[in-house]
Amino acid sequence: MHNNDRANFGSRLGIILATAGSAVGLGNVWRFPYMAGHDGGAAFILLYLACVLFLGIPGMISEFIVGRNSATNAARAYIKLSHSRPWGLIGYMGVFTGMIILGFYAVVAGWCLQYFFASILEHLQGDKDYIMNYFATFSSSPFKPAAWAVAFLFITHYIVSHGIRDGIERASKVMMPTLFVLLIIIVVASCTLPGAAEGVEFLFKPDFTKITPNVFLDALGQAFFSLSLGSACLCTYASYFNRQTNLGKSAVQVALIDTMIAVLAGLMIFPAAFSVGVSPDSGPSLIFITLPNVFQQAFSGMPTLGYVISVMFYALMALAALTSTISMHEIATAFFHEELNLSRRGGSLIVTAICCVIAVLCSLSVGAVSGLSFFGKSLMDSLDFITAQIFLPLGSFLTCLFVGWHIPKRITVYEFTNHGTLKGTFFKVYLFAVRYVCPAAIAAIFLHQFGIL
Ligand code: PHE
Repeated sequence: MHNNDRANFGSRLGIILATAGSAVGLGNVWRFPYMAGHDGGAAFILLYLACVLFLGIPGMISEFIVGRNSATNAARAYIKLSHSRPWGLIGYMGVFTGMIILGFYAVVAGWCLQYFFASILEHLQGDKDYIMNYFATFSSSPFKPAAWAVAFLFITHYIVSHGIRDGIERASKVMMPTLFVLLIIIVVASCTLPGAAEGVEFLFKPDFTKITPNVFLDALGQAFFSLSLGSACLCTYASYFNRQTNLGKSAVQVALIDTMIAVLAGLMIFPAAFSVGVSPDSGPSLIFITLPNVFQQAFSGMPTLGYVISVMFYALMALAALTSTISMHEIATAFFHEELNLSRRGGSLIVTAICCVIAVLCSLSVGAVSGLSFFGKSLMDSLDFITAQIFLPLGSFLTCLFVGWHIPKRITVYEFTNHGTLKGTFFKVYLFAVRYVCPAAIAAIFLHQFGIL
């Protein structure tokens, strides 16, 4: 059942760090804090935890099962397990979605790189209007942000083209611990600022009056995006897992790391924001407009510390983005490499080229070229919407039906228990979640989105 010539991860630690690296990304350090800020802090976080536990983990295990059992790229994996071409569409959709997300994600990642260098060169010093203007001018200029996005894609390409062990695993083993250390340093600095307690309280004291159906759906969408569900990314990574890997335990560990980093990101941002009286619900612009000013004001008594924190912060953002972009890149690289019989480097080059085109168009759509918009949204926002709100949930929905109902149960049991060598205590709970709870919850998001529920 396993193809022995195929690359695989070299160690259990490598598996966890690489998979957690895919999950930990801008979704944790950028999207999670502003969603939590917008949706009432702790109440949102509790709902988010419930979504991760009851929906995210079973969804992740399902993708792991498809990937490890088939030991091939996502498109072929679904065909191989079902012996039917139509099911393969889930995999093809994953490959397509992965490249689209990579295209626009690289633009935001490129902004992080620009801000990293700008903070080193002290270009982010100034009042609120200055920073707002800085972001508007930079993000809407035609050349610079596109060039940063392309640069980011080439860094991603460099890592992915070195393969699973020498590229992805090795890079994850360096980047994930570095990211964690940077995060802890900034959390400590932020939480010891005067007035920080209010931010901590905001994060941990639930206000249940804030819970509405919309908040629930936000939490669900965020859990799926943050765990990289539905894009075939986890399926692709699992195709490189070895037979001893305990799929259930790995999913729990990855979800724990991902959630911990998201909460720590909240602890890095809110205390600093509250200490200077900035509202935490300023939306996506939080990171690029509000925060440079927050750091400056919060550490105004200790400018050197403020400088170091700001540089570290943007380094952290870029690192988090990179551990995710390599995973998105790998979905399509594995596909082109195996399906078109190209070398890994060749497959990887095609992906980089396609994503560079998407990224440049997205970057231009933010301001430089006004015609690049659909239904009143820029190309970048439209792609974000159709992937995060439609393709990812759809991919997860179909994967749950596929694993829960379509493939023979013996395959699911075989993978869940590692061929009977594990007890599989939670198998029944898992199967129930994947057959009923996950599809129903995801269907609810869809219906709500289109105004039906
Ligand atoms: N999970 C990543 C994040 O939190 C985003 C991602 C989505 C990565 C889909 C891979 C696939 O930023």
